[in-house]
Amino acid sequence: MRYSANFSQGQEALVIDLASVDEVLGTTRSVRRRLDFDRPVAPEVIEECVALAAQAPTGMNREAWRFLVITDAAKKQGVADLYRRAMDRYASLRPSPLSPAQRALSDRLHEIPALILVCSEGRPESGNHAAEVAFYGSVLPAAWSLMLALRSRGLGSTWTTLLLVHERETADLLDIPDDVTQTILLPVAYTRDAVLRRANRKGPEQVMYWNTWGAAREPAE
Ligand SMILES: Cc1cc2nc3c(=O)[nH]c(=O)nc-3n(C[C@H](O)[C@H](O)[C@H](O)COP(=O)(O)O)c2cc1C
Repeated sequence: MRYSANFSQGQEALVIDLASVDEVLGTTRSVRRRLDFDRPVAPEVIEECVALAAQAPTGMNREAWRFLVITDAAKKQGVADLYRRAMDRYASLRPSPLSPAQRALSDRLHEIPALILVCSEGRPESGNHAAEVAFYGSVLPAAWSLMLALRSRGLGSTWTTLLLVHERETADLLDIPDDVTQTILLPVAYTRDAVLRRANRKGPEQVMYWNTWGAAREPAE
């Protein structure tokens, strides 16, 4: 196990357990089926995770993120119906069939203990690239932190955007004001028999350039 020690003036020495941090960063996968649909998730646990999510960067310090936690059975059913409609349409447009896991999440969304809709107050300025990046960059890092915090507590989730196809109907269902932008929906439940591993992703040598676009790092002299 590796440890990193971080000393800063006026603070006690802080030891970060790299193995645990790396495990959470490296194995926070989509969990769609291996979920415990019957085990409740305490509101306090979700609040703790949201408190960590709110440590993410936030443009102009606005903290415009809002986390709408849906636990009410009728509302979950309403969201699940919209999600399924979006999924069916998506499936009809694809050349290949949906994976059983994608289908399973869609079929059982209403049974998941908590659905968290991550929103931002305001609307991005359409056509202004810098403003759009700042807008979404001020909410999506918090959403990812939330997923990591959930994972570290044994909770599984999936980063989903399909519901956005029905943003208007979702807003009506949940009384979301017009000037609030919906982003991702995280279905949250304790995992059950889920073995989460690092995904097979491109390595740094395939996705990194040094100093000039397309250039590999110069070998050390
Ligand atoms: C922008 C974005 C939108 C996504 N939307 C959905 C979705 O609507 N439904 C779903 O089941 N998964 C969705 N996913 C999850 C991806 O399918 C998943 O991240 C990918 O297959 C990699 O698997 P992993 O999350 O286990 O690493 C989305 C992921 C991203 C980044």
